[in-house]
Amino acid sequence: MPSTESVFDSETVGVSTLPTTPDRSASCSPALDESTDEHDGASNGTKTTSEADSDIENKFHSKTIRSICCVGAGYVGGPTAAVLALKNPSIKVTVVDRDDRRIRRWNSRHLPIYEPGLTEVVRIARDGLGEVSRVQGSGAIEGLRKPNLFFSADVSRCISEADAVLIAVNTPTKMRGTGKGCATDMTSFEAVAAEVVRHARDGTIIVEKSTVPCRTAQMIQEMIRIQRPGAHFEILSNPEFLAAGTAVQDLLRPDRIIIGSGTTPEGLSAAEALAKVYASWIDRKRIITTNVWSSELAKLVANSMLAQRLSSINSISALCEATGAEINEVSAAIGADTRLGSKFLRAGIGFGGSCFKKDVLSLVYLAESLNLQEVGDYWRQVVEMNEYQRNRFTSRVIKRLNSTLVTKKICILGYAFKKNTSDTREAPALEIIKSLLDENPREIAIFDPCCNPVVIENEIRSLQNYGPPVLSDDGGSVKVYSDAYAACAGSNAILLVTEFDEFLNFPLLSNAASSGVNSQGKSKISPSEVNESAKQHFNDEPECAADCPDCQSGTGYGDSSADNVENSPKKQLDWRRISGEMQSPKWLFDGRCVIDVPKMESLGIRVEAIGSAGWTV
Ligand code: UDX
Repeated sequence: MPSTESVFDSETVGVSTLPTTPDRSASCSPALDESTDEHDGASNGTKTTSEADSDIENKFHSKTIRSICCVGAGYVGGPTAAVLALKNPSIKVTVVDRDDRRIRRWNSRHLPIYEPGLTEVVRIARDGLGEVSRVQGSGAIEGLRKPNLFFSADVSRCISEADAVLIAVNTPTKMRGTGKGCATDMTSFEAVAAEVVRHARDGTIIVEKSTVPCRTAQMIQEMIRIQRPGAHFEILSNPEFLAAGTAVQDLLRPDRIIIGSGTTPEGLSAAEALAKVYASWIDRKRIITTNVWSSELAKLVANSMLAQRLSSINSISALCEATGAEINEVSAAIGADTRLGSKFLRAGIGFGGSCFKKDVLSLVYLAESLNLQEVGDYWRQVVEMNEYQRNRFTSRVIKRLNSTLVTKKICILGYAFKKNTSDTREAPALEIIKSLLDENPREIAIFDPCCNPVVIENEIRSLQNYGPPVLSDDGGSVKVYSDAYAACAGSNAILLVTEFDEFLNFPLLSNAASSGVNSQGKSKISPSEVNESAKQHFNDEPECAADCPDCQSGTGYGDSSADNVENSPKKQLDWRRISGEMQSPKWLFDGRCVIDVPKMESLGIRVEAIGSAGWTV
C-alpha cells in the first residue's frame, strides 16, 4: 500500500554517533606513509566495468544489494540517496543523520537544501506515487510506486539493516592541531566509520562517498581488525562528483562513476555489486573500476585540477586589466582549442564552495606528508591565487570609490557561492563583506534570490565575533533584503558577486538557452524529465515541523514549488529602474564577467568587470 509514512519514526532519538557535520575540528587525521599493505591494488590497471565484467561475473558470484543506508543527510548524501532510490525502486534506501532536526526537514515539505529538481525526485521516491483513483476516493488504493526512500535519525539500527552503507559526511579542513588549515578533519568520518563497523552485519559493503585522504580505507580496515575480528567487510571508494546547483542532473547523467575496490575476488565482487546499482540508469562504459587508492586520489585530483584551471584564468584576468586585453575574449580564444576545451574558463572573484579549497589543501597536505614539498608548494599556489583574486576585486571597488566607503551604501547581489544554489559554504561574498566592513560603510545591502535571508543573517551575525555589531537589527550596517530593488535603492555601488540569471542585463532567449548548460557543460535536465506523468500521481507531502525555518520566514524559500522556477524564464531585474534609484556616480562591479557592459553603461551605470581595463574617465 502506498503511504507517505516512513517505516521509521523521524522523531526517533537515542543515537550514539557524533554529529555528522561538526563545526569544530579535532586533531585526528588518517595516518599517511609511503608503505603499502595487503589492500594495495597498485598493480591493477584502470578498466571500465564492461571490460572487467565478464571476468568478474564468471569468476565470482556477486552479491546483490537490496538495501542501502546512507550516513549523512547533507548536500551529498541527501541528493545521492534520493537519485539512487528513484532509479532503483526495488532497493530500500535510508538516509540517516544524528541531527534529527535535519531529518525532520527531509521528511517534510521544505527540504533542508535547495537543488533544482530535487523536490520532485524526493517526492517520488520518499512519498511514492498513488493512483488517480485514490485521489478520487474510490477506496481501492493501488500504488503506482511504493516509497523506497526513508530518512531516519535511528543511525545504528538502519546501519545494521543495510547490505551497503554509504558514508557521506563532511570532511572539512582541520582548524586546529597537526595539519591545521590544510589536513582533512576526519572527526565525523572516523566516528561514523566506527559506528558502521560496530553495527553493520557481517558482509556489509562499506562505501566511502565523502571525499577522503588517500588511504582512508586502510583506517577502516584497521578498525574492523580491532573491533570485529573474524567479520568480513569490503571497503569501496565511490567518490561523488555532483556540483551544487546541478546536483540532480549530475547524478542522473554523470560523466563517470568511479568505484575503487580491493583486488581480491571479494573486493571485485563488492565493486560489481555496487556497479549493478548504478547500471540501472548509467551506461556501463561510464562506470570505471580502479584500486581503492586511485579512486580516493582521483576525487582530490579532479577538484584540484578544476580549481587550478580557475586560478590560471583568474591570474590572466589581472594581466588583462593591466593591458587592455579582455578576459572573456582570451577565454573564448583559448577554449576553442579542443585540447584545452571551453569549460571552467570563466574568470571571476575566485572559486568558493565546500570542496575546491579543502580538496586542494588536502592534496597539499598529502604531498607534504610524503616529503614532496615542491608538489605541495605547487598546489598551494592555487589557493593563494584564489585569495589574491578576491582581494584584488575588493581593493578595486574601494579604490574606485575614492578609497572611502564612509557615508556610502554598497549593494551585494548574490550571496551563494554560485548561481542556482542556496549553498553559502566558502562563499566569496562573506570575505568581501568582511573587507568592506573595515571601510566603515553607511550600509551593506545583501540580496540573494535563492538563500533564505534568515540563513544569511545568521552567518553575518557570526562576524560579530571579530568586533562590533554588524547586522542593522543589532546596530550594525549590514542589512539583508528579500527584495532586490529595495537592496539596490540608494546605493552608490552594486557588486555582482553571484552570476544568477536574474541579474543579467541581456534577454535570456529561453531558460533552456540561458542556463541550459551547467558548469560542467552538461545539458540541463528539467525536473519533469525525471518523470513527466509522475506529477499527476504525487501523494501529499508531509507537513513541516514547527521549527521549519522556511515556514517561519514565510518567504517561500525552499518551497517545493520553487523547483518550477527553472522551467519558466527567470524574472530578470529591471536595470533601468535600478539605475533610476541609485546615487550618482553609479557603479556596478561585475565580479563574474557576465554583464553586457555597453548596455549597462547606456543606462548611466559605470561598469568595472574582472578582466577588463574598466571605466575610463
Ligand atoms: C565542485 C566540482 O565541480 C564537483 O565535481 C565536486 O563534486 C564538488 O566541487 P561545486 O563546488 O559545487 O562542485 O561547483 P562548481 O560548479 O564546480 O563551481 C565551483 C566554484 O568555481 C564556484 O564558486 C563557481 O562560481 C566557480 N567557477 C566555476 C568559476 O569561477 N568559473 C567557472 O568557469 C566555473
